[in-house]
Amino acid sequence: MTPAQDRPARLAGVTVVVLAAGAGSRMHSAQPKVLHPLLGRPMALWTLDAARLAGVASSVVVLSPATEALRAELPAETLVAVQAEPRGTGDAVRNALAVLPRGVTELVIACGDTPLLTPADILGVAEARAATNGPLALAAFVANDPTGYGRVACNDEGQALSVVEERDATEEERELDLVNAGLYAVDRAWLDQQITALAPSAASGEIYLTDLVAAAARAGTPAGLYVGDASELEGVNDRRQFADAAAGLRERINDAHMAAGVLILDPTTAWIEPSVTIAPDAVIEPGVALSGTTTIGARSRIGSHSSIIDSLIGADCVITASTVEGSTLHDAVDVGPYAHVRPGCEIESKVHIGNFAELKSARVRAGAKVGHHSYLGDVEIGAGANIGAGTITANYDGKEKHATVIGEGVFTGVGTLLVAPVVMGAGSKSGAGAVITTDVKPGDLVVGVPARSLSKAE
Ligand code: UD1
Ligand code: CA
Repeated sequence: MTPAQDRPARLAGVTVVVLAAGAGSRMHSAQPKVLHPLLGRPMALWTLDAARLAGVASSVVVLSPATEALRAELPAETLVAVQAEPRGTGDAVRNALAVLPRGVTELVIACGDTPLLTPADILGVAEARAATNGPLALAAFVANDPTGYGRVACNDEGQALSVVEERDATEEERELDLVNAGLYAVDRAWLDQQITALAPSAASGEIYLTDLVAAAARAGTPAGLYVGDASELEGVNDRRQFADAAAGLRERINDAHMAAGVLILDPTTAWIEPSVTIAPDAVIEPGVALSGTTTIGARSRIGSHSSIIDSLIGADCVITASTVEGSTLHDAVDVGPYAHVRPGCEIESKVHIGNFAELKSARVRAGAKVGHHSYLGDVEIGAGANIGAGTITANYDGKEKHATVIGEGVFTGVGTLLVAPVVMGAGSKSGAGAVITTDVKPGDLVVGVPARSLSKAE
């Protein structure tokens, strides 16, 4: 695909209308279809984003009371039209026209349930209209299984004569495998005239936008046709199609990372959201999920069954079957297996975080080791410290959280319990099972419950 930034000028006068007011009943979900997240982004936003990348001048999204929650996710400059009830795609466009600024003369209309659309498709349909010099063009594709789509009948010049919805189609029409993608380019003045003439379908009572195609043909100006690829134009009506769309987007994202030098061992099981950046020579093992504003540094290996959420992972890190969220890891940190780095951690270089370690709001300085089974919350851990197996910060007294400071080079014995707020001075040590309730002086050794200094007697 030609990069969209080379071509936006062609669409600079075009406004996109995204239809997102439908209930999406075929999903059998309490959540409206257009809000279902695909790789971390509500379905309808994928369509909107493709239009933005194609260079459209402005965007209108049609919502209904049922899909109103999408409003909060829209870019600030998006216009919103409200369709009180989902009375069909024609009615949705009627509502869009009501909020459209006067100066808008050209529209591209797209459905909020076609998340695989690319900027090239949007440009393609606009160009198809420009080529016919008529009022309307639509995008179509040859479907392996046309079930559920409107069938497109054409003339010999490759112009569309009509779109027949499946429920209204004759046996013969159902045999047609060229189907309507639900993507149109249309002249605004013509649409203003035509939209009021659309009558509800006898079969469903809905007002079909697709009836415009026959109207254009009747007027002697048949719609232009842009025939695109099913892998970009397929719609999502049910859970099966949703899974297919997710796979298509996943594949596109992973292909781009691989082309840029990332090693993805099994691109069919690596789920990487579009907001993630990965440096070359990073390795993504099977079954990894990378989401939100995550960055993975060069040569880092993200092991199977790891989830990295909103985190910055430096270069040369190794994450094994672990979850890291809302945290920053510097270079050459290793984590896991089965560790949980919770939000607010900053882990400096060459830190080792081993099996079953849980950290939260922890600042761990360079070279420290948190080997096994521990909970470290609201804590600062000094450079080179060695945290023994089973060390726990008791950071919560039932009402408030308190901080623990573990100095440089500290060694905690296995099963040490730090009752916060408490400080272990640099170079201090605790014996196995120590319960530390008061500050430990630098270099001291404390043991017992509650922990006492062994050097106190001197
Ligand atoms: C529609 C087309 C069909 C095409 C298919 C492509 C019509 C009548 N049919 O069928 O020819 O092959 O898309 O995927 O247009 N929507 C509203 N308000 C409504 C109804 C729908 O905003 O009152 C929105 C939905 O949220 C959805 C889009 O319009 O994003 C398409 O609606 P949907 O009901 O999925 O149409 P299809 O039956 O798939
Ligand atoms: Ca649909």
